[in-house]
Amino acid sequence: MVSQIRFLMCAPDHYDVDYVINPWMEGNIHKSSRDRAVEQWNKLYNVIKDHAIVDLVAPEKGWPDMVFSANAGLVLGENVVLSRFLHKERQGEEPYFQRWFEENGFNVYTLPKDLPFEGAGDALLDREGRWLWAGYGFRSELDSHPFLAKWLDIEVISLRLMDERFYHLDTCFCPLANGYLLYYPGAFDSYSNRVIEMRVAPEKRIAIMEADAVNFACNAVNVDSIVIMNKASDSLKSRLAEVGFQVIETPLTEFLKAGGAAKCLTLRVTEPVREELHANVSVESRVVRMEGHLLDAGLINRALDLIVEMGGSFQVLKFNLGEQRQSTSAAEVRVSAPSHDVMEEIISQLIDLGAVDLPQDERDSKLEPVLQAGVAPDDFYVSTIYPTEVRVNGQWLKVENQRMDGAIAISQTSNGIVAKCKLLRDLEIGEQVVVDVLGIRTIRKAESREQRNSQEFSFMSSGVSSERRVELVVEQVAWELRKIKDSGGKVVVTAGPVVIHTGGGEHLSRLIREGYVQGLLGGNAIAVHDMEQNILGTSLGVDMKRGVAVRGGHRHHLKVINTVRRFGSIAKAVEAGAVRGGVMYECVKNNIPFSLAGSIRDDGPLPDTQMNLILAQQEYSQIIQGADMILMLSSMLHSIGVGNMTPAGVKMVCVDINPAVVTKLSDRGSIESVGVVTDVGLFLSLLLQQLDKLTSPYVANVG
Ligand code: ARG
Repeated sequence: MVSQIRFLMCAPDHYDVDYVINPWMEGNIHKSSRDRAVEQWNKLYNVIKDHAIVDLVAPEKGWPDMVFSANAGLVLGENVVLSRFLHKERQGEEPYFQRWFEENGFNVYTLPKDLPFEGAGDALLDREGRWLWAGYGFRSELDSHPFLAKWLDIEVISLRLMDERFYHLDTCFCPLANGYLLYYPGAFDSYSNRVIEMRVAPEKRIAIMEADAVNFACNAVNVDSIVIMNKASDSLKSRLAEVGFQVIETPLTEFLKAGGAAKCLTLRVTEPVREELHANVSVESRVVRMEGHLLDAGLINRALDLIVEMGGSFQVLKFNLGEQRQSTSAAEVRVSAPSHDVMEEIISQLIDLGAVDLPQDERDSKLEPVLQAGVAPDDFYVSTIYPTEVRVNGQWLKVENQRMDGAIAISQTSNGIVAKCKLLRDLEIGEQVVVDVLGIRTIRKAESREQRNSQEFSFMSSGVSSERRVELVVEQVAWELRKIKDSGGKVVVTAGPVVIHTGGGEHLSRLIREGYVQGLLGGNAIAVHDMEQNILGTSLGVDMKRGVAVRGGHRHHLKVINTVRRFGSIAKAVEAGAVRGGVMYECVKNNIPFSLAGSIRDDGPLPDTQMNLILAQQEYSQIIQGADMILMLSSMLHSIGVGNMTPAGVKMVCVDINPAVVTKLSDRGSIESVGVVTDVGLFLSLLLQQLDKLTSPYVANVG
């Protein structure tokens, strides 16, 4: 039976693979056989003609891809949105397709220049006419989707393509009659897969495997219960048969060489309109402004990359390049995202890079009340390490207690309105919390180039061997320690027991004694092993001088814990003369505050160990208050804990033998953190040698 459905096709008179604009064309230039292509095309034409009406558009010389009429435009009812090809290789097809549409009574819409959209190759109507699925990521721009919604008055659902082999939506996605969907999930990002799953019930989804996908099984023409395609596996055929579809295979291998098959070779030109449905598009856009050393510091690349990585797209509206080495650049970027959720994710990251709204778009932060103590409103903005401001009643307020992974709470105090970073557990009923991503900015000082180089750890440059890197880090850290000490600044050390096992205890003790350390953070173990070494000469039962295990030594640390428990605290044990040296001794003697955070594996614990972790976190954050530098020595747990509560601007040096720990900590996206993979005992010993060099008086070598 021939239905009234019409398809537009274009004979392959001039078809060939003449250039490469998709991965299928690679290696296939002039490799397709004209005769076989004609034969395959005719077969397809006849199969379709058995089931529907086929119209023809005249092929044009010099436009070899014109056979792929799916890319002529997108039709709905009387209206058609003409394609704007991304590649110049196909742009010449546009006027021929336009003429055909106009001659056949269609109302033709044309997109602005430079806004690519490749027609029904990237936009597929739900076969029930409920909405339009529109692809982006390779050929079509996300920003074309709002035009489709407006002109065709239909809801548009944007799907992001991720696999360049499936560069057009119709290569991996095929809506079928009765609400079924044939598709290859691997071609989409996870967000789009979720969108698909939310729209199409599980029993209606026919997800195919890669083997079928690369045979272009999704590039199928569906007429009622018939599905015409290049090739399908037996399992796919039976899967489709189960739900009432009959597969007709017709080989299209010559066209696969250009990256197309059955669906690409056709354009359905009868698409009935459902009058009761109207436009709706979830694509959002927003213009942000960035200023600073956009090029030198790689800020603009990072911003644009992250927009695309996260599923959005962008247009650079303005870019004022700073011409002098010193001058900063400014850019205005229009960001588009397929939905508000994605927009929020993108903007929150752009905020970290210093992006702000245009002055005329500035708005107050969106606030929602805390309804349950210790629980934030769902959509709360998650704070970062960067100094942040929020806009309340038209005023920008600096956020206090900046740290990451908190919520920003706004409260009315006697000093006026205050914005504070708070941990979830500390939120109180009645406070307002910043939600969404409006009216939030981070303050980035655009330092001069020279300043930038001196303020950051400038040896971060790659291409440095790991041995040399250790030396460089040591030199720089010694220099910083010296400077901070001279200026009365603050250095906090987090240390694990490995410091003691590797013989670093004496060095760390000296750093404390000589005034380089203003706070110490650790757990039960470092204190126990440090005192064990000083009382009994062993660390976890190993003789520190000879490096051998001492008989019964595994009990040593318990005896030490017991002794300190008898005195009631480390300080009292020190005062009583039971501990006569070491890290803890120096802390007590020099009035250096320390905090030992407990954990499930602690023996004892020492009386000083804080087993209430919430209190321990509070003690830690008090000690790091106002720190200029934090030295993290071989303690993954305590170092990460500290990293989480430290705002940007504090220099962090992480030393660990395990590269994973170092990467995790030094990769805060801030220039002030640096990591070095090495033995911590060795590091400390080199550090002291270097400090000695810096502090010993210069003696000229005369004679
Ligand atoms: N060589 C063509 C291109 O890369 C193939 C187009 C396939 N068409 C389609 N609707 N998927 O543009």
